[in-house]
Amino acid sequence: MRILVTGGAGFIGSHLVRRLVLQGGHEIVNLDALKYSGNRANLTDLEGHPRHHFVHGDIADQPLVERLLKEHRIGGVINVAAETHVDRSILDPGSFARTDVVGTGVLLEESRRSGVERFLQVSTDEVYGSVDSGMSTEEDRLAPRSPYSASKAGGDLLTLSYWTTFRFPVMVTRGSNTYGPNQYPEKFIPLFVTNAIDDQPLPLYGDGRQRRDWLAVEDHCSAIEQVFLRGEPGQVYNVGGGNERENIVVAEQLLAYLEKPKSLIRLVEDRPGHDRRYAVDCSKLRRIGWHPTVSFDAGLQKTVEWYRKHESWWRPIKSGEFRQYYEEQYRRRLEQGTRCGS
Ligand code: TYD
Repeated sequence: MRILVTGGAGFIGSHLVRRLVLQGGHEIVNLDALKYSGNRANLTDLEGHPRHHFVHGDIADQPLVERLLKEHRIGGVINVAAETHVDRSILDPGSFARTDVVGTGVLLEESRRSGVERFLQVSTDEVYGSVDSGMSTEEDRLAPRSPYSASKAGGDLLTLSYWTTFRFPVMVTRGSNTYGPNQYPEKFIPLFVTNAIDDQPLPLYGDGRQRRDWLAVEDHCSAIEQVFLRGEPGQVYNVGGGNERENIVVAEQLLAYLEKPKSLIRLVEDRPGHDRRYAVDCSKLRRIGWHPTVSFDAGLQKTVEWYRKHESWWRPIKSGEFRQYYEEQYRRRLEQGTRCGS
């Protein structure tokens, strides 16, 4: 079956495409709009591979999506394309609704019309909102609190409505915070690692005691593959790494790997509406044979090493469009920030 993967030049998407092409032996059409975080450099090893066809374009472009599905006789779709960063969704909510809701809608409708046999929507555990205690199960009500998570919840529910309404065979994965090589350095772990390499301050929001469940990108991709191949239509599957950590603990751990001082950490003004904790129960996914394989300590150390060895990947990013974003997001915060313990 030929599979359309969208967002395949991004962080999770590029790891997924590589896995499906090289390990799974699948033929992949990779549609990516190459917006700020999409990067052809994430795919250099797949350039020219006979089972990888890259197409530059947007999932919200209906004529393009219609043509691609027909021309390539696509049998399955995995939608990884998304605007994903909470802080950017606070600065510019409109682009999130456009890609994560409208774009998903275009892809769903064209896929249904062209007779696609399986459609997987990559959603997020953030759709459950902040969870003070316990673990979210797939039956829990959605309570997103940021423009990002609300837009993802829109795409997630729209996807599920295609099963209820049309019996179009969709599946949804709700993954937890993912980390690993090639992640755009606006996100917590790569931002902190690359700042620390340059002896720049690490802007920790609020009291730094928020908790996330960290999932290695290879484990996230194996979960997506498993659900795509063996998931039941109409079903949702949570994906979590089982590595719940406070942000400050992660910050201190990556500084230790880099042999940099804790004094680089700055407590800065919190993100508005900052979710305190996410945690998912993954027993449903385990029942179809998935389990995470990467321990957080090993995964974080490997990731830190990757950024240390791949400055040629992240330095051009941090000196481009990113600088303006960084200035807007962090300059005032860092000026007013305090050192930990002071
Ligand atoms: P992030 O990587 O943005 O993922 P999400 O908000 O989707 O969970 O952030 C992970 C955690 O790290 C989150 O609690 C916010 C926090 N954080 C900081 O403290 N400082 C930062 O500069 C960033 C980007 C995140």
